Amino acid sequence: MLSTPRRTHRCGDFSEADIGAQVCVQGWAQNVRNMGGVSFLLLRDRSGLVQVVTDERSPDAARADAEKVHLEYVLEVRGVVARRASPNSKLPTGQIEVVAESVVILSRTPALPFNLDGHTTINEDLRLQYRYLDLRRPELQNNLVARHRAALAVRRYLDSENFVEVETPVLTKATPEGARDYLVPSRVHPGQWYALPQSPQIFKQILMVAGMDRYFQIVRCFRDEDLRADRQPEFTQIDIEMSFVTRETVIELATGVVRVLWREILGQEPGEIPVMSYADAISRFGLDSPDVRFGMEHVVLTGLLAGSSSPIIQAGLADGGIAKAFVVPAGAEAASRKQLDAWTLFVKRYGLGGILWGKVAGPWTGPLARLGETELSALAAATGAKEGDLVILGVGKPEHIHPGLGRLRVQVARDLGRIPAGFAFTWVVDFPSFEKDPESGRWMAVHHPFTAPRPEHIALLGTGREGEMLADAYDLVCNGYEICGGSIRIHDPDVQARVFSTIGLSDAEAQQKFGFLLDALRHGAPPHGGCAFGFDRVIMLLCGTENIREVIAFPKTASAQDLMSEAPSPVDPAQLGELHVRNVERE
Ligand code: AMO
Repeated sequence: MLSTPRRTHRCGDFSEADIGAQVCVQGWAQNVRNMGGVSFLLLRDRSGLVQVVTDERSPDAARADAEKVHLEYVLEVRGVVARRASPNSKLPTGQIEVVAESVVILSRTPALPFNLDGHTTINEDLRLQYRYLDLRRPELQNNLVARHRAALAVRRYLDSENFVEVETPVLTKATPEGARDYLVPSRVHPGQWYALPQSPQIFKQILMVAGMDRYFQIVRCFRDEDLRADRQPEFTQIDIEMSFVTRETVIELATGVVRVLWREILGQEPGEIPVMSYADAISRFGLDSPDVRFGMEHVVLTGLLAGSSSPIIQAGLADGGIAKAFVVPAGAEAASRKQLDAWTLFVKRYGLGGILWGKVAGPWTGPLARLGETELSALAAATGAKEGDLVILGVGKPEHIHPGLGRLRVQVARDLGRIPAGFAFTWVVDFPSFEKDPESGRWMAVHHPFTAPRPEHIALLGTGREGEMLADAYDLVCNGYEICGGSIRIHDPDVQARVFSTIGLSDAEAQQKFGFLLDALRHGAPPHGGCAFGFDRVIMLLCGTENIREVIAFPKTASAQDLMSEAPSPVDPAQLGELHVRNVERE
């Protein structure tokens, strides 16, 4: 391996075997203690820490120089490795220290805006503003190293399966993932704009038409959408496409990617990944990305409660409402009144009026206790609720009940500490092809409009029964996060045109937006399909964090800003002029 000039060891590489060696180390002063002629410097580089000491064994100049060192100065230390009089068992190099013969200050810093000792909680905005300091912390460096190793492992694996990594354009046309686009004005073509890709979807399909057979790319995607803890405006996908395959082939390949990653980074075998239908996921968990690490599954009670004596339940069931409940085992004692109030508020975000809950504690208590004896025993029988359990019931429109109770199930499990450590994966398949846009009442593609319907459902296109069609699409879910999504694509241009017309794209619009794909499909397109992993999300899971920013070197805040570079920022009006763009005052 290429050696670094002058440096003989990295800070973390020392062991007792080095005792007596003449060495040179370079790094940052993580800790400085000057005690009247004796100085202890804890020197850090990416590999770890080593203690440097200047005392009566060191020349006077080295002792004087060590006293000039402050936190996070960059140093070059020459010296001899010695056994430590009092070893530090918490430090991998804690058996030894470097007795300095010279301490050279290579670089200085003013006092730091925050402490890097790892014990202090630092405001995240400040961390992002001084990201170069924040990234010096081992947690973040380890995350970036894990990310690097993960990318290498994926490349090796896909290469071994005969995939070829091909780069696709970043300055391109709008892609079909359905978020808002980031746009770039063209200087050369006044009034015309590039869109940054939300994914390489169209290009990878075209690569299949071009005969590349198996493509992948670890690629940046751009989406201007509301950000959450697991979303960034620019994020990375492991993007994959294969020709002549079925859904099962893609699922097998993507499962292989998961195995390689979990093995490489965590040394774990994920085991068989179960497959669940979308309908089951919604019915049992209320969400299409279910966290299956714990129970508390939903039970549908619409039929059972149809004749309920409760006016609230009756009102909720009117006009196509549904009833669902879940049982929190031993929840009667575990859930406080305050928590129940918080959970009632929580579901309001999803359009529900609240929840009906009941504790099975001898006689029932809580709002559900108002139901009659017979209704309560039927409820207990249907849900399996036992003495000591808590039952949470929701009644209302399916579009509110499923997500409301779905998210609540996870929130309750979190609040009560019921989510076990570890990973649980599920493939979710048989998504509907289309869903109605609540505002316009139009059909929209649930995945993207290039997703093939299940072959037996193609005949339903144009019949008014599009809502019954299932798509040849699949998502991989881990611990409640959607980490991968994909589909078998439409390779028949006629079917593609009918799908466009179903979602209200006229021929002219389809041609204007995706004409090059439609043309390609007319020129000998193989059957093909693929998927894309959210790489940042995968790394987030592998690194045991719930904040996607912890696994990205230079992430954006929730309001899409880079606090370090201060992007976005105003630009020179002359530059705007060249781009034929003018700022207008905000109304
Ligand atoms: P999809 O839109 O499902 O599919 O994206 C694939 C995966 O990318 C991740 N992801 C994100 N991660 C971080 N921040 C975001 N803003 C973000 N948006 C999505 C998710 C998701 O599962 N072209 C299709 C794939 C295909 O059909 O092959 C696509 O992009 O983990």
